[in-house]
Amino acid sequence: MADTEELKETKEYFLATPARHEGFFLKGSHQLDWGMRNRLARIFRPESARTVMLAIDHGYFLGPTTGLERVDMTIVPLLKYADALMCTRGILRSTIPSSFANGVVMRSSGGASTLREMSNERIAVDIDDALRMNVSAMAVQVFIGAEFETQTVHNMTQLVDLGLRYGIPTMGVTAVGKDMVRDARYLGLASRICAELGAHIVKTYYCEPGFETVTAACPVPIVMAGGKKLPEFEALTMAYKAVTQGASGVDMGRNIFQSAAPEAMIQAVGKVVHELMPPKQAYDCYLTLKSEQEKARR
Ligand code: R5P
Repeated sequence: MADTEELKETKEYFLATPARHEGFFLKGSHQLDWGMRNRLARIFRPESARTVMLAIDHGYFLGPTTGLERVDMTIVPLLKYADALMCTRGILRSTIPSSFANGVVMRSSGGASTLREMSNERIAVDIDDALRMNVSAMAVQVFIGAEFETQTVHNMTQLVDLGLRYGIPTMGVTAVGKDMVRDARYLGLASRICAELGAHIVKTYYCEPGFETVTAACPVPIVMAGGKKLPEFEALTMAYKAVTQGASGVDMGRNIFQSAAPEAMIQAVGKVVHELMPPKQAYDCYLTLKSEQEKARR
C-alpha cells in the first residue's frame, strides 16, 4: 500500500488551459479507438506518417521462397531497419525474436498454394491467437474479380469485425489474379472496396498512370506492394513515386530480401519512404552502404 504520511497538498489544475485533444497522424484513422490507433502507431512512424513494412509472408503459398529459406539468417538481421514486419504466425512464433518491438502485421488468410486456384483462401488464424501474439494488424488477401472473390471479401469483413472487437486493425491486400490488369481502374476499384468494407490499411500495387487517383480515392492508408524483383534503382524509383503520389509507405518483400545487399536496400528504402529522398540519391546511398557492408564482412 502507498505510504500516506506527509502527502503533498499543493495541486495544479491548469484552470486557464483547456484540456489537450490531439488528432491522429494517420489518414482516415482519427475516429478509431485508442487500442486500434496505438497499434497503427506501431506500424506507421508518427513523424512521417509512413512505414517501411518488410513482407516475408510468401511461404504461406509459395513454400521456401528464394531469400526466405532461413529467415533466422537472412531476415532477423534486417529487423532493426523495419518499422513493421508482415509474416505468418508460424514464422513469428518459431523464428522472430519476441524482443522485436515494432509492428507485426500477421498474415491471417491462407489455404491455397500456387498449385491450385489461388483465390480459394479462408481465414487461417483465430483472433485469440492474434491477441496472444500481440500483433499490430491482421492481413487478408482480397481477390477482386477472381473465382472466389466473394469468399475472400467475406474473409476480410469477418476479420474486420473480429479485429474491431479487440482493437486490432485489418489490412486488405489486393491480390491481382492472372487475368486482371494492374491499372489504376482495377487497383482503384479493389482498394476502395477493401476500405469501404472496413479495412484499416490497404496494400496494393503501384501503377502508371493514375496511382495518385488510387490513393486519393482510398480513405485509409495505402501501402505499396513491392512485387517481382526489380533492379535496385528501379525499385527505389517505384517506391519514391508511390510515396510522392500519396502512399503511406511500402510493404516490400522480394525487392529487399532478394537484393544483392538486403541490409543496404532496406536502409535506402527507408530514406525514400521517411525522408522522401529522390531515387538517384537513395541509390547512391544503397551503393555506399553495400560497399561498407561488404568491407566489414571481409
Ligand atoms: C501476397 O500477395 C503477399 O502479400 C506476398 O507474399 C508478399 O507480401 C508480397 O511481397 P513482395 O511482392 O514485395 O515480394
